[in-house]
Amino acid sequence: SKIEPHTFILFGATGDLARRKLIPALYNMYLRGQIPADTRIVNVARSAYDDHGYRTLAREAMREFAPKSITKEDTWNDFAKKMFYCQLDASNLDHYKKLVNMVEEIEAHSNTKNRLFYLAMAPDFFATVTQNLQESGLSHTEGWRRLIIEKPFGHDFASAEALNNELRSVFEEDEIYRIDHYLGKEMVQNIEVIRFANSIFEPVWNNRSISNIQITSSETVGVEDRASYYEHAGALRDMVQNHMLQMVMMIAMEPPSRLKNEAIRDEKVKVLRSLRRFSPEEVKDHVIRGQYGVGTMNGQQVPAYVQEKNVNPSSETETYVAAKLYVDNFRWAGVPFYIRTGKRLSVKSTEIVIQFRDMPKHLYFNQDGNLGPNLLVIRVNPVEGMYIQLNAKRPGTDEMVVPVAMEFSQPLDASQEAYERLFYDAMRGDSTFFTRWDEVSLAWKFVDPIAEAFTEKRLPLHHYTAGSHGPEAADNLLAKEGHRWWPVY
Ligand code: BG6
Repeated sequence: SKIEPHTFILFGATGDLARRKLIPALYNMYLRGQIPADTRIVNVARSAYDDHGYRTLAREAMREFAPKSITKEDTWNDFAKKMFYCQLDASNLDHYKKLVNMVEEIEAHSNTKNRLFYLAMAPDFFATVTQNLQESGLSHTEGWRRLIIEKPFGHDFASAEALNNELRSVFEEDEIYRIDHYLGKEMVQNIEVIRFANSIFEPVWNNRSISNIQITSSETVGVEDRASYYEHAGALRDMVQNHMLQMVMMIAMEPPSRLKNEAIRDEKVKVLRSLRRFSPEEVKDHVIRGQYGVGTMNGQQVPAYVQEKNVNPSSETETYVAAKLYVDNFRWAGVPFYIRTGKRLSVKSTEIVIQFRDMPKHLYFNQDGNLGPNLLVIRVNPVEGMYIQLNAKRPGTDEMVVPVAMEFSQPLDASQEAYERLFYDAMRGDSTFFTRWDEVSLAWKFVDPIAEAFTEKRLPLHHYTAGSHGPEAADNLLAKEGHRWWPVY
């Protein structure tokens, strides 16, 4: 389906996310001809700007965060004319009159009554703004209406459910587009294609051929200036509940009956239903939590988490989580899914490794007297691509084998930013790569007992050196099963 003209109403338009990602994404879509002529963007925030002032802010944001996108100033100016600004306090219902007038005025001049709302603001506002959209009349329109909502979606199951009820009193489930930006990543979207468009994978994609699966999302940054949020979230809520579990679902799901959003999401949800839940007592055998201490990165000494700005000096918030998960269904029985994610690690990299089972008997050996396993590695970030690790003869020797890689990698500049793909989909009404409520709720139900075990200190908090590859305990988690982490690049 094509993108129909609509009015895009962006709350939080002067914020960090808008400046870094959203404005550049919209402009790049404009350059690609994806923004219909009759589409206008109404930017909403609390600061005092007029249209001209906001366009200047947007131009500055482009200079800072997407300097290569603007090659012709005229083209930018044409785009900028599509943007308007409305100053308002989003929690104050009286202020919405102005916004209603502005949107109606725009609609009177364009051929559309479709409205796309995007809440790029602190989660505390999600429910209030949605209610205000309803009470001001903004959410009533003859065209279609959609709500894109940023993460985090709740703090635990109870708060997520409360939020969802608020949203659902205004919007239908199929009008709500919950963002998980990992689902906008090229190689995450590619997982399904790799699996379901290649006949060589399906026969081996199960516990008979696969030994274990490893999903790593490692970051070099620390908490930056987000302590007020991160202190209450930690790596478990910030990364595992959403991004990591999404990748688990994409790897483990059954083929959908059709390539339709609900068919695909139905299959993903089934993975979460099969995901083994841990009681708070069981968590310590399956989960490792860590927190970064001082260390050196790029030759610079960096502070420990507890020394960061606005972090409680005795904070026990985890900045690292590793876990051993099981998807208890026929396909995956007995195959561990190892996940790990952390801040202040040695590299910035997201990778998925599928490790295949060893040969039933070894005829050939490498120079260590072993035979390395076959691996399929899906590289999500920063390189986009994949490779298969095979064993082959070392040239000039008889029986000595060496690992070789069959590799495919995507040219970097060909890859769109995640937000461009997600906007494109939401504008077309395709919710495949947005999270449905049942996914979100089951993910919380899995995470809640783990969070509880953390709070109750049922497992140690391992301190790891900033710039290292994380706590050693995470290596032991795999060693117990005779496995090891494959390095990330
Ligand atoms: C966000 C988290 O959702 O994902 C951040 O809130 C994290 O803490 C980020 O840094 C990682 O995303 P990416 O795309 O850089 O891997």
